[in-house]
Amino acid sequence: MPQLAQRMSRAKPSAIMVIAEKAKKLKAEGRDIVSFSIGVPNFLPGAHVYAAAREALDKDSGQYGSNRGPDVLLDAFIAHIEALGLTGYTRANITTGVGAKQVLYNLAEALLDEGDEIAFPAPYWTSYLDIAEIVGAKINILPCPPEQNYKLTPAQLDAALARKPRVFLFNNPSNPTGMVYTRDEIAALADVIAKYPDTWVITDDIYNTMVFDGVGYHNFVHVRPELKDRVIFVDSLSKTYGMPGWRVGFIAAPEVVAKAVTTLNSNHITSLPEVTLAAAHAALTGPQDVPLAKCAEFAIKRDRVYNALVSIPGVACPRPQGAFYAFPDISVAFGKKHNGVAIDSDVDFCAVLLEAKGVACVPGSAFGEPRALRISYSCPDDALDKGMARIVEFFAELT
Ligand SMILES: Cc1ncc(COP(=O)(O)O)c(C=O)c1O
Repeated sequence: MPQLAQRMSRAKPSAIMVIAEKAKKLKAEGRDIVSFSIGVPNFLPGAHVYAAAREALDKDSGQYGSNRGPDVLLDAFIAHIEALGLTGYTRANITTGVGAKQVLYNLAEALLDEGDEIAFPAPYWTSYLDIAEIVGAKINILPCPPEQNYKLTPAQLDAALARKPRVFLFNNPSNPTGMVYTRDEIAALADVIAKYPDTWVITDDIYNTMVFDGVGYHNFVHVRPELKDRVIFVDSLSKTYGMPGWRVGFIAAPEVVAKAVTTLNSNHITSLPEVTLAAAHAALTGPQDVPLAKCAEFAIKRDRVYNALVSIPGVACPRPQGAFYAFPDISVAFGKKHNGVAIDSDVDFCAVLLEAKGVACVPGSAFGEPRALRISYSCPDDALDKGMARIVEFFAELT
């Protein structure tokens, strides 16, 4: 039999999907399962988005579209990011993709030759590691433990950039921790980035409008506009607009990078579908009441989850301020037993919790932090409270 390409030995299915599938299977068997595993926003976009999609269907040209995306959508995205304080971008700086994931994959192909170094903080979104491995990059993981609120320090960044990686990949607000960097923290990191002109900086900030407590969203180019010629801003409609299945992602980047990603699009996907593009345009230009209301709701859910977690003796949880994730350090459970079953790792913990209490969480090791687990708390309040009560109960039953 012929062989697969060598790169497939480095490619693995998403760890998050594995847990989500197991939870789904148990549910299908009749178990009462609360799933905190998959990072979906659990709401739908406003009616105007569906109306635009229907209209596009009626007017369907049946043709291929632009590799970059239609001008009207590029303009809508430029206006959208101007409202975020990212100004001075033109259509030549923007391109689209099949969600932020495909955009990130394209960026990895566009920026990294095999053996080039990429640096990113841990905890990280699982696909960063997987994509970097597939393209054969050398990976420098910068550990940011709960003791430093899962945030990268300027000293860590300085040491990493001194190695002259081709790419520094940053994520704010963070999946999996829900951490959000303050303006001062971003400014301090930007000062370090400014010292190292040979490194591209990707800021995967797809949760940028899902920020609580008035912290605000801050980007390196807000504080140092001259970094615009190296900073690549990644965005998506998936989480903030409740549109993960529509698969629309964007970048605002130096022209050369936007052009490279567009060239890859021309070979990978050609274009996004017309109906999807019309829905994306409506989401960006229409009423913003759904995303705004959901952000306020998520802040309240965050409180429910956070309060439950910090009530558990020995569990530490830096307080999330964005997205819809909490990332508690549950290592106090290691070395203990639940109903006689030993828990020696985050993977054991999640497996025993799912089996015993029907609550699905993702082990922290999937995100590079094996002392923690990720709770995705976008589910309805009754499921949220039920799941959190079961986690509290589970801890109380450990011996
Ligand atoms: C940090 C981060 N980046 C990118 C993505 C991918 O998003 P999309 O649905 O736009 O591909 C996700 C999805 O979970 C994410 O959490």
